Amino acid sequence: MKLPLQHRIRNRLRSTWLREAVVSYRHRGLLPQDVFLASYPKSGTTWMAFMLAQLLWKAGREQRINDNRFLPAIGQQSSAERTLPDGGRLVRTHERYRSCYRKAVYVVRDGRDAATSMYYQVQRVMGMQATFSEFLPIYLRGRLTGAGAWHDHVNQWRDAPRFAGGSLLVVRYEDMKSDVANELRRTAEFLGVEATEAEIVDAIEAGSMNAMKGVEQRSEGVKHNEQNGSIPVVRKGVVGDWRNHFSEEDLVEFYRYSATAMEKCGYPSSTDAAHYAQID
Ligand code: A3P
Repeated sequence: MKLPLQHRIRNRLRSTWLREAVVSYRHRGLLPQDVFLASYPKSGTTWMAFMLAQLLWKAGREQRINDNRFLPAIGQQSSAERTLPDGGRLVRTHERYRSCYRKAVYVVRDGRDAATSMYYQVQRVMGMQATFSEFLPIYLRGRLTGAGAWHDHVNQWRDAPRFAGGSLLVVRYEDMKSDVANELRRTAEFLGVEATEAEIVDAIEAGSMNAMKGVEQRSEGVKHNEQNGSIPVVRKGVVGDWRNHFSEEDLVEFYRYSATAMEKCGYPSSTDAAHYAQID
């Protein structure tokens, strides 16, 4: 299995000093009041970001998927609006933990589903053609994204001493799926954003799968680097799609890397079948 040349070069460059220089540059001009919406890629951040933007914006303005005017990706903050009550910005980041991150919402998803979602992302963006079992070892070693490996990302964010005082809110994708109002309310409260029940309902409606699929079709921004346009960002949006992709061997391989990180987030920590029954 081979990635297109441009992606092989990009992946190689990620392990050089050049990446750190670029990432440092993206972190320039941060304010002490800025808060981060952090996650490993494919954890449901677009969904949470969309609802939060709707809340902060108090609706009324048409937003795009990954709208940098309002909820900027790291590096885009200088031209974004200061939407938080104390004048800070809510900045999206997939980077591994850095000491300049003082306060953050960390969206996390069962690593098996994040891997499954990434399997489609690499087909969409990189044109990767591989079976899931060919893809998984490359993914687990953190070779496919600047965010590194899922387990390292989760461990670093969850264990960062700076957050010991309660300045990290962890939101699980699965909890959003089972009670989105509760997770959105909790997040708004953490950010100090006042929201009425009507505003919460409005944000949830704006962020529904159907509404976001419509927005994605109208958003040029997410189409710029597609190799396979038939796979959308707002794809399936379910819990447990990993079951349709992982073989028994894939699961063993996954847990060889990820058991501790899974346990830290309240997901099954081993391939023990009894565990699976508990979370569904
Ligand atoms: P799947 O590929 O499993 O469907 P991210 O935004 O971090 O890239 O995560 C993408 C994942 O979130 C995709 O998962 C996508 O379908 C899911 N997602 C996007 N919008 C959603 C929504 N409104 N409700 C539930 N899941 C959503």
